[in-house]
Amino acid sequence: MEFKRSIIITGGAGFIGSHVVRLFVNKYPEYHIINLDKLTYAGNLANLKDIEDRPNYTFVKADICDFDTIMALLPEYHVDGIIHLAAESHVDRSIKDPFTFARTNVMGTLSLLQAAKLYWESLPEKYEGKRFYHISTDEVYGALELTHPEGVKSDVSAHEVYGDEFFLETTKYNPHSPYSASKASSDHFVRAFHDTYGMPTVVTNCSNNYGPYQFPEKLIPLFINNIRHRKPLPVYGKGENVRDWLYVVDHARAIDVIFHEGKTAETYNIGGFNEWKNIDIIKVIIKTVDRLLGNPEGYSLDLITYVTDRMGHDLRYAIDSRKLKAELGWEPSLQFEEGIEKTVRWYLDHQEWMDNVTSGDYQKYYDNMYKDR
Ligand code: NAD
Ligand code: TYD
Repeated sequence: MEFKRSIIITGGAGFIGSHVVRLFVNKYPEYHIINLDKLTYAGNLANLKDIEDRPNYTFVKADICDFDTIMALLPEYHVDGIIHLAAESHVDRSIKDPFTFARTNVMGTLSLLQAAKLYWESLPEKYEGKRFYHISTDEVYGALELTHPEGVKSDVSAHEVYGDEFFLETTKYNPHSPYSASKASSDHFVRAFHDTYGMPTVVTNCSNNYGPYQFPEKLIPLFINNIRHRKPLPVYGKGENVRDWLYVVDHARAIDVIFHEGKTAETYNIGGFNEWKNIDIIKVIIKTVDRLLGNPEGYSLDLITYVTDRMGHDLRYAIDSRKLKAELGWEPSLQFEEGIEKTVRWYLDHQEWMDNVTSGDYQKYYDNMYKDR
C-alpha cells in the first residue's frame, strides 16, 4: 500500500507515545506510523492492543542508540517525519542512575538526528517535506519561586497560581536533575542540527502529564494503586511542591497540531495553566478513589506518609502556553476535575494492566534499578 507519509514515533509503547501513536493511526489512515521502541520497563505493547492490527501501523523493537539499525530503518520505510518521545523519564531513577539517562536521552537523540541527517541529505529533495519533532519537558527551565504559597486567582489561569513567574519559550535553561539535564542537552542538539545543517526541527516543552497507561512510578498512578491496596502514600518533603498538570490526550492533540502546523525551528510550550500543590492533588486522588471504591469519605487519608524529600526537588513548574494558543489555536479540552475522574476510573477498571506492569519481569527490572550498587 502506498502511504502519503511515513512517520517514525519513538517511544510509542510508553505513556505519552502510546496516546500519540493511537491518535495518528486512527486519524491518519493515509500515513504509515512506525512505532520504534526498545521496550524498556516503561514500554508496554499492551498499551496499543486496540490498534496493533491496523494496516497503517508497524512496530519495530529497536534502541534509538543503535545508530546502524536506525540508519537502515529510515530508507527501508522512506521516513519523512520523526516524532521523538523515547526517553528515560523518571526523575527519581535519574538520581540513582544518571548514566542511563545520558545514554538514551542525549546519545540516543543524537543518533536519531545524525541518521536522519545522513538519510535526508542523501535524497534528491533533501530536507523538503521532512520534519524532526523532539518532545521535551518544562523541567529543562529549572524551578520557579512560590511567591504565593497559598495560591491566588489569576487571569491567565483557570486554576489558582502559586507564583508570579511562568516558563516562557524564551526562559533560560537551568536544569537541576540528571533527567532534566539530559533532556536539556538533547534539546540543544536538536536546535544545533537546525542551525548547523538546516534540518527542519521543532521542539516542544510540556508540563506534567497524567492519564491512562502511565507507569506507576509516577505520582498519580502510584498513589491510585497504593490507595487501592491500602499501602502508604510517600509524600516527598512537605508536599508543597507545585506541578502543572495536563491530560495526556490533550498533549497528544497538541503534538498533532504542532507536527503539522508548527513553524520550523520554533519552540512551543505546552501546558494546562493547571497548577496544583502535591498535597492538594493527593487529597483529590484519595477522595476520588475512595468515592469510586465505595469507601467512606476520608477513609484513605491515613495512608499519607511524609518521607524524606527528593534530592534537588524543584519547587514549582508552571508553563505559559499562550504562544501555542495564539499561533496554532491549541488549548486543553479537559478541565482537571473531569480528567482526574477519567484517570482514576481508568486505573480502577484496568487492574490487570496495573498487575502486569507491577509484577514479573517488570518488577524484576524495577527492583534491580533500585537495589544498592
Ligand atoms: P515513558 O517512560 O512512559 O516512556 C518512554 C518510552 O521510551 C518507553 O516505551 C520506553 O520503552 C522507550 N524507550 C526508552 N529508552 C529507549 C531507547 N533507548 N530506545 C527506544 N525506546 C526507548 O515516558 P513518557 O512519560 O511517555 O514520556 C515520553 C516523552 O515525553 C519523554 O521524552 C519525556 O521526556 C517527555 N515528557 C514527559 C512528560 C510526562 O509528564 N510524562 C512531560 C513532558 C515531557
Ligand atoms: P513525578 O510524577 O515523579 O513527576 P516529576 O518529578 O517529573 O514532576 O512527581 C510529581 C511530584 O510528586 C513531584 O513533585 C514529586 C512528587 N512525588 C511524591 O511526593 N511522592 C512520590 O512517590 C512520587 C513518585 C512523586
